[in-house]
Amino acid sequence: MRDAALRLGPAAEVPEGGARGYDPEGRGQDTLFAVRSGGELRLWRDRCPHAGTPMAWRRHAYLNAAGDRIVCAAHGALFETGTGMCVQGPCLGQALQPVAFTVDDVGDIVLMRHASATQETSP
Ligand code: FES
Repeated sequence: MRDAALRLGPAAEVPEGGARGYDPEGRGQDTLFAVRSGGELRLWRDRCPHAGTPMAWRRHAYLNAAGDRIVCAAHGALFETGTGMCVQGPCLGQALQPVAFTVDDVGDIVLMRHASATQETSP
């Protein structure tokens, strides 16, 4: 099985205390989002564990006003930025799904995914 690299864009576009959504499959809606907190960059699937809906209330708006929690726009669940664990709301104790990535030598966020998974998720 062959792996395909998928480049999301410059990691520098995600500021400290900020977030950014990505639409790697060109669906017209972000399906992944990155958060940088405490100097650590993390990538999550844009899907709330409560009802499976997208998280942002508008594009790239995944965090609370303090920038220290991820917020689900649907019912207000709060998640830790470091672990993705829900700490308040209807999905308490559940977690966001992390997405594996690397930052390449030019500073881009790059996903690695199996070619078969790519086919499964294509429209
Ligand atoms: S769908 Fe996210 S809290 Fe309900």
